[in-house]
Amino acid sequence: MSIDDELQATITRIVHAGRGILAADESLPTIAKRFAAVGVESTAENRRAYRSMLFTAPGTEAFISGVILFEETLAQRAADGRPLPDVLQHAGIVPGIKVDQGKIPLPGAPGDEVTQGLDGLGARLRTYRGLGARFAKWREVYTIGARNPTPLGITANAEVLARYAATCLAEGLVPIVEPEVLIDGDHSMERCEEVTLEVLHAVYDALHRHRVRLEHTLLKPSMVLPGKAHSSKAAPEAVAAATLRVLKRAVPAAVPGVNFLSGGQGPEEATANLNALNVAWPHAPWALSFSYGRALQEPVLKAWAGKPENVADAQRAFHRRARLNGLARQGAYQARMEREP
Ligand code: 13P
Repeated sequence: MSIDDELQATITRIVHAGRGILAADESLPTIAKRFAAVGVESTAENRRAYRSMLFTAPGTEAFISGVILFEETLAQRAADGRPLPDVLQHAGIVPGIKVDQGKIPLPGAPGDEVTQGLDGLGARLRTYRGLGARFAKWREVYTIGARNPTPLGITANAEVLARYAATCLAEGLVPIVEPEVLIDGDHSMERCEEVTLEVLHAVYDALHRHRVRLEHTLLKPSMVLPGKAHSSKAAPEAVAAATLRVLKRAVPAAVPGVNFLSGGQGPEEATANLNALNVAWPHAPWALSFSYGRALQEPVLKAWAGKPENVADAQRAFHRRARLNGLARQGAYQARMEREP
């Protein structure tokens, strides 16, 4: 198979009707925070046990088409000795890998940040591919403030995302391009819409300049929402309308899939918003799906709490959230389902 055929095959598997992505790629400091919230120490063994519990949850492959892994997880094994990427492959789920190396302040743009990890990226991608990864993820973040993001922050971050995406395609991995406009702050929904539009325009301009074949990429954006500290919350229909306005203006129809991040929305909120997007535009040119971390895992972590005797309950909690998001991806979710067993 040519590299292009392989990339296409990966895309086809990920962008499957009724399915989305589980983001289980929390870095060491982030997973330590998530574990601490449920009283679990972040050791390599606890991380292995937790993630292998997620990946072996019976039946979730009907709703989960891909999982984003943290580097450490690629080399870890399930209780039966199988490498975790093989466990996923065997269940028909595509293993992916987070390849950015965290963010630093962007010099010349006070308040903005930029993500590191481009040096040596091609060699790392070859190693990850050898361990089973078929797609990658790179996240840039944009904080909304009175002067942020700056024009320099927007162009510098777009340039980095484009170089990352071009390198992935050269190495046969599907790049997930993730520009996250953060929910933190008291900004209005209108301000979030304006910033998200600027960010996405810059990203697709840079991807074009770097000759990235959009057909073999996925976008992982944030939804258009009011800031967390803003006085009002937005109804799912309003979130869907604003988010679709931005996507229509900035994201070419050649992009096969848009897999939203949850970005601090609660689990039910993230599901309801995804559902509203699919109800508002059932035949959108891009599949409108999820790539949730917290919104899929919050109830699972609570149910698990680090105890082997809770594994079955935790797997049921994961199956439930995965199923509801699978329905939302088709516009078939209803809030009353949250109260059903
Ligand atoms: P959240 O859904 O928790 O925002 O995580 C998605 C992700 O991968 C962030 O990089």
